[in-house]
Amino acid sequence: METQVLKGRVALVTGGTTGIGFGSAKRLIEAGAIVYITGRRQQVLDEAVAKLGPSAHGIQADAASKSDAQRVADTIKAAHGQLDILFANAGGGHATPLADLTEEQIDSELSINVKGVVLTVQSLLGVLKDGASVILNASITADMGLPGFAVYAATKAAVRSLARSWTTDLKDRKIRVNTISPGVVPTEGYSHEQKMTQQQVDDYVARVASEIPVGRVGTVEDIGDALVFLASDASSFITGIDLIVDGGQTRVYAGKN
Ligand SMILES: NC(=O)c1ccc[n+]([C@@H]2O[C@H](COP(=O)([O-])OP(=O)(O)OC[C@H]3O[C@@H](n4cnc5c(N)ncnc54)[C@H](OP(=O)(O)O)[C@@H]3O)[C@@H](O)[C@H]2O)c1
Repeated sequence: METQVLKGRVALVTGGTTGIGFGSAKRLIEAGAIVYITGRRQQVLDEAVAKLGPSAHGIQADAASKSDAQRVADTIKAAHGQLDILFANAGGGHATPLADLTEEQIDSELSINVKGVVLTVQSLLGVLKDGASVILNASITADMGLPGFAVYAATKAAVRSLARSWTTDLKDRKIRVNTISPGVVPTEGYSHEQKMTQQQVDDYVARVASEIPVGRVGTVEDIGDALVFLASDASSFITGIDLIVDGGQTRVYAGKN
């Protein structure tokens, strides 16, 4: 099977320094792409670029800032002229009981997960090549009704909706827009966003794995593999979809008969 399916293509992964973004950048590079990653923390960005190797480039940027998003677009345009693949991945949030939600948390999750995705795609419109593939990172939480995740889940429902609207807006340029909805994928975010200890993560993973038909939680590479598919010509007849990558958790009964 051809492995370098993205050879020479230029990709951007926002929030590519850790977790799903990092694993996706790794898979894009393995498939032959030149990959730009962004993140807010310069040191973490530098470490990620070093780990990813010579096909990776870092741009320190906050996805929720219009001027940063424009600077990212300008940098890629100056270096390559155009962009073939965009993974708008930067995002996050954490569980908080409804009564305890602060205005600050609501603003922060809406700002990064929704405004940030809009600004990212909007800023790149003049750089995205006709025929490019745009993938937005959503979440299975958009379907699930998980305790404490109302605002986060609502932001991810918004992301899915944005993708469907942009599929229409960009169809004349043959730009495909899809979302990926990851299931449970333990990442650095579980400690620094969710504030979980390693023991809590281990206990959660052990418990939730029994609810997932494939019998395990996901890896960042699982999401990267789905991303490479949506980024490549193998998915040229697919647009406007939500690709659920959750080991069957939200669609299949995992218990015993
Ligand atoms: N892990 C899961 O189980 C799961 C499931 C469904 C969906 N997701 C989604 O997957 C995405 C990645 O999550 P993850 O679990 O991989 O989290 P993570 O390990 O915390 O990684 C988040 C990445 O995004 C960057 N980032 C955060 N806010 C940013 C901003 N405003 N501008 C630029 N970069 C930013 C972080 O770097 P800096 O902090 O340095 O900026 C980091 O590189 C999120 O959209 C999340 O909602 C995750």
